This record gives sequence, structure tokens and C-alpha cells, in this order.
Amino acid sequence: DELGVVAVGYSGGQRKSGVDAAPMALIEAGLLDQLKDDLEFNISFDGQVHNYAHVIPKQDEDHRKMKSPRSSSAVNKELSQQVYEHASKGRFVLTLGGDHSIAIGSISGTAKATRERLGREIGVIWVDAHADINTPETSDSGNIHGMPVAFLTGLAKEEREDIFGWIRDEHRISTKKIVYIGLRDIDKGEKKILRENGIKAFSMHDIDRYGIGKVVDMALGWIGSDTPIHLSFDIDSLDPQWAPSTGTPVRGGLTLREGDFIAECVAETGSLIALDLVEVNPSLEVQGASETIRAGCSIVRCALGDTLL
Ligand code: ARG
Ligand code: MN
Ligand code: MN
Ligand code: MN
Repeated sequence: DELGVVAVGYSGGQRKSGVDAAPMALIEAGLLDQLKDDLEFNISFDGQVHNYAHVIPKQDEDHRKMKSPRSSSAVNKELSQQVYEHASKGRFVLTLGGDHSIAIGSISGTAKATRERLGREIGVIWVDAHADINTPETSDSGNIHGMPVAFLTGLAKEEREDIFGWIRDEHRISTKKIVYIGLRDIDKGEKKILRENGIKAFSMHDIDRYGIGKVVDMALGWIGSDTPIHLSFDIDSLDPQWAPSTGTPVRGGLTLREGDFIAECVAETGSLIALDLVEVNPSLEVQGASETIRAGCSIVRCALGDTLL
């Protein structure tokens, strides 16, 4: 099968450096070799970790309280086009972040390509401790990695072309076609947004109550079979025991096995068209970095169809 890989070394969606080093760390751990040799993917990869330095402006003042708004916008606009080009050629697209703001680029790229190629809207499965659905106004932090779902669904909009104004309807996803798994740290404003828009979410509480098997079935049922799926996997969905090296760790998370299971089940549908792996930060909790990287590699292999037997 054909696999397009985009490595994005972007950390400007939050304030901690180091998350930009994740793509190289994952690749050096052998991720792409495993996909090529063990899973027999034909990989298209330009061999670069993109920081899109050429589009990053020197001056980038806060706008509507957003931090690094122009940089985040410009990086995601470039990324969107890169992902779009892979997806338009029918390739599965693997995007290695970077912080979770980069899902604005990756998901807008697959959404647009899938509309053009198949005349279909994509569904999104967002595996995360956080909902990342703040608008600039509801965000306490101003960090754009807490806002990608708001921009992708159109719940947040901005006129200025250089601050996400390039996002058009063709890039957007429906609030009815996103489902969350693993939530446990939702801001007050986000709870209101989730409730008012009837957005489907399975929290850690739901996983405790129903078990991961039932939750995944319900999540896939919500998306509907035969809908092209983009899986956006934030490594902080895993418990810090398995993934300590991440910028916003929250205790009480998924086990590594539960994370792998989600990825395996989504792969089994045969409808998965793209995967993001984000928020691995090898410079935090350095003793745990290799474990976190290993967890990330495992999630990617499972999502790309590595089966146990
Ligand atoms: N809700 C918090 C915020 O908006 C944390 C977001 C964490 N997001 C992430 N992708 N790790 O700042
Ligand atoms: Mn996230
Ligand atoms: Mn998160
Ligand atoms: Mn919070």
C-alpha cells in the first residue's frame, strides 16, 4: 500500500520546546523502517522534518489572545497543502508532529482531498486527554494546540487570511462527524461547546464503565461504517505511566494496550485514511523519553494494520 509521510517539527502551538524533535526521534527509533519492512508499505517521504521556517514571520503578536497566531496559521497552511497532495494521490497520510495545532493542517488537507476524490465528508476520531476545542475567546492559555477542533469545525473563525482565514468550507469537518476517546481534562468553556453542539465524546469515565471494547464500538458506530476516517492521536491520551514525555500530561489515562487497541480497531474498519501522532516531547521527563517514543511507534504500527496474529 501507498503511504505518504509528513514530518512536522512545529512547537509554536504551545509554550514548551522539544516537541519539534519528536518526528526525528520517532524516525530514528526505526518507525519508518518498521512500516516498510514489516508492514510492506511503499513510502513517499521527502526525508525532511519541516519547520516551514520560510513562512514564519519575524513579528507575531498575540491576536484575540492567541499566541503565535501567524506562525501557526502559516505552518498549517503549508502542511495542509502537503497532506492534500498525498491524499489526492490515494495515499494513506501519516503526519508526525509536533504539537496538536498541526491537526489543523493535516485534517484540513484530508478533508479537502476526500471531498474532491470521493465526494465524501471525513469522520475524525480524536484520541486525547483534552478536547482541543477552545475558541480564542474560551481559551485560558491562548495556546493554539488547545484550539484545532474549533478551527476545523468552524466553531472558531477568523477573517484575516494570515491568521487561519485561509480555512474554507472544503477544509472543514462536521461537529457531527467527530468523536472523542480518552477525555479527562476539559476546560469549562469547552464543556459548554461540547454540550451545545451535541458533540460525541467518550471520557475515561465511559471507558471505566463500559470497557474499551464497547467504547470503540460505540465510537465507530457514531462515525458510521464506510466513512473515511482520520485518526488524530495525542500521546497524552495515554497515562503518564506509558507516555510521560508530553507537554500537558494528565493522570488517569489509557494504558498502552488500550491505545493500541483503539488504533487496531480503527485500522480493522478498512476506512482509515490518515493518522496524526502528536505531542511526543522527548526533552521532557528525559528518563521516560524512550518509553514515550516506543509507545508512539506502537500506536502508529497498530493503526497501520499491524496485527497480533
Ligand atoms: N485545554 C488546555 C488549553 O487549551 C490544554 C490543551 C492541551 N492540548 C494538547 N494538544 N495537548 O490550553
Ligand atoms: Mn491534543
Ligand atoms: Mn492532549
Ligand atoms: Mn485545563
